[in-house]
Amino acid sequence: MSVHKGNPRVMVTSTLHEDALKKLREVADVKTDLPRQLALSKPELLKIIGEYTGAIIGPSEPFDKDLIAAGKQLKVISRFGVGYDNVDVRAAVERGIYVTVTPVLSETVADLTFALILATSRKIPQAYNYMRDKKWGIERQPYIGMDVTGKTLGIMGLGRIGSMVAKRAKGFDMAVLYYDVIRNKKAEEELGLKYVSMDGLLSEADIITIHTPLTAKTTALIGEGELKRMKKTAILINTSRGPVIDEKAVYKALKEGWIAGAGLDVFEKEPTDPNNPILSLDNVVYTPHIASSTVECRYRMSMVSADNTIRVLKGEKPLYYVTS
Ligand code: DGY
Repeated sequence: MSVHKGNPRVMVTSTLHEDALKKLREVADVKTDLPRQLALSKPELLKIIGEYTGAIIGPSEPFDKDLIAAGKQLKVISRFGVGYDNVDVRAAVERGIYVTVTPVLSETVADLTFALILATSRKIPQAYNYMRDKKWGIERQPYIGMDVTGKTLGIMGLGRIGSMVAKRAKGFDMAVLYYDVIRNKKAEEELGLKYVSMDGLLSEADIITIHTPLTAKTTALIGEGELKRMKKTAILINTSRGPVIDEKAVYKALKEGWIAGAGLDVFEKEPTDPNNPILSLDNVVYTPHIASSTVECRYRMSMVSADNTIRVLKGEKPLYYVTS
């Protein structure tokens, strides 16, 4: 493999705003014509990674130990997002490679979380499809829903995004419970939250929303046992990472009526198989990992991920990076 001599090279698999690309091009040769919709596979990445000093990547390209070792010139892996479960951070740090993130999306993700809470509770897509099928029929009401106002919301993981969701819930007069491995008394006071055990959250909440990162400890955090402890009328929302819930167990729970519904923006494997049986259920509302997809948020993310990368290429510390 040839070692690149000219400008540093940066590969981009996310859709960066033109302003961010312009800034990047001032310091690097930027490769943007790579697959985006379907994340590049490990073998495909292994073939090209040696050429690059920087990589601005999505949530699914597998930057594991082998790939990082093959990235002989790599100085920065810039996640276009905040989740970095697809990057072996320890392997990167050992090789002096920065892993950077864009923590400028909490409000936008919280908005989508609320959109899913409302869409799932009020069966908005079901009602939309009903009318699209040229039906009206109030008396049949296949889209009769559940009130959100005044209900109990359970937040699993009270980080930046979880806190923003709590803030929105207050506008709906909801009682807000949360569970996290770390108790946050300041947030409890400021946002009027109640700290409960995982069991308490599962059994008391009408709506449970997940905001944990994906780690070994949070993989399949919600499985059959947890689903069985939820109320039969409850709905489950996931805008974090697919593998935090055991998708097969959620399918079973929805099909057999252990819970009433689910709103999912993320899936165990992405892109999910179009024939994934969970997509065929009529008590599920789903979106294709769009929680940060707004013009404003994508602009912020573009500028921050470019800035993080440029700083490293210039020998400076990036704005936001993770070390474990
Ligand atoms: C994130 O921030 O990690 C989102 O999932 C977008 O990749």
